[in-house]
Amino acid sequence: MTTTSPLLLLLLPLLFLFISPSLSALTKLNVLSYGAKPDGSADSTKAFLAAWALACASTTPASIYVPRGSFLLRNVKFQGHCNNRAISIRIDGTLVAPVDYRVIGNADSWVAFQDVDGVSIFGGKFDARGASLWACKNSGNSCPGGATTLSFSKSKNIFVVGLTSINSQMFHIVINGCQNVKMQGVTVTASGNSPNTDGIHVQLSSGVTILNSKIQTGDDCVSIGPGATNLWMEKITCGPGHGISIGSLGKDQNEAGVQNVTVKTATFIGTQNGVRIKSWARPSNGFARNIVFQHVTMKNVQNPIVIDQNYCPGNKNCPDQVSGVEVSDVTYQDIHGTSATQVAVNFDCSSKHPCSGIRLEGVTLTYKNDVAAASCKHAGGTSFGVVQPTSCL
Ligand SMILES: *[C@@H]1O[C@H](CO)[C@@H](O)[C@H](O)[C@H]1NC(C)=O
Repeated sequence: MTTTSPLLLLLLPLLFLFISPSLSALTKLNVLSYGAKPDGSADSTKAFLAAWALACASTTPASIYVPRGSFLLRNVKFQGHCNNRAISIRIDGTLVAPVDYRVIGNADSWVAFQDVDGVSIFGGKFDARGASLWACKNSGNSCPGGATTLSFSKSKNIFVVGLTSINSQMFHIVINGCQNVKMQGVTVTASGNSPNTDGIHVQLSSGVTILNSKIQTGDDCVSIGPGATNLWMEKITCGPGHGISIGSLGKDQNEAGVQNVTVKTATFIGTQNGVRIKSWARPSNGFARNIVFQHVTMKNVQNPIVIDQNYCPGNKNCPDQVSGVEVSDVTYQDIHGTSATQVAVNFDCSSKHPCSGIRLEGVTLTYKNDVAAASCKHAGGTSFGVVQPTSCL
């Protein structure tokens, strides 16, 4: 007869501890194993979707690996409601869109994540090859609207590090209806005259953080739409492009407001605007409040500080009413550098809801080595310390 040694009884749980990590081992999925081809011409869409299906079905954390090389993808949607909340995608290669812009150009997005929770993307270069669609748009012909390169919708706990997006057809990255999104070390590059190629667009989302990112594009560097709250941007470099914009707001009568947005440590190089809030001149219950712009350097920026509540690009089909959007509690702190036009600070607010609680603290903007000008309409607030051009609040 044998008796179980007490020592073994003691060791059993320990033994289990050693074994258990392998039970919950990471599911690793290399897209090459599912038929992806790194040659830039074979369609790898199905292979990526196959790897995603397995990652999403896995009850343990999963990791998708995209090795070096160029992978051709059509429109692809990574649909969520997955069985785990830890899918990481590591991309050493480049994702390329088909040469013919019509293949992806009629869809909202090229690469879309929807209803996902706990997805991280490390690295990767996304090349949507948008130049031929821009040329079509700039020629005035009728063309597809174009696809956003990378979108996250109705998702949470998203982490994106070291991703590069070049030559998007439309917006490069869109965050819509999301919570807790962190983007770090993102690079966006598109030509300064490419239409609607916004770098990162955030709307109807809370807890989005964008850090250490460099955005060169033809439209807004970061655009912040209705319903963006608790948004933090730090160490952002913009230019060429249209700068960081809150808005356009007031597109609709009923619209979610923008609240608690911070831009800290940003540099704008040769952009059309620096830090801008814009709304259409029409009735709306929208608002923008508790906004902070801090430690900003302007280098030859056309409109460094601007609130434009008569926004109407190209002056075509302007609503020509009064903006209902209420802009309040906006702080500009330590904003310095050069303006490319004489009016460096321009507050053109709504006569119905004048801007209130504007705070200028340590603003030094020059125009051609001389004093710049400030212009105020329906704008109220206070200034502290050195403010050049002299505040008109
Ligand atoms: C404002 O947003 C930041 C994140 O950007 C968050 O940490 C902070 O708690 C928010 N403040 C309020 C009052 O919600």
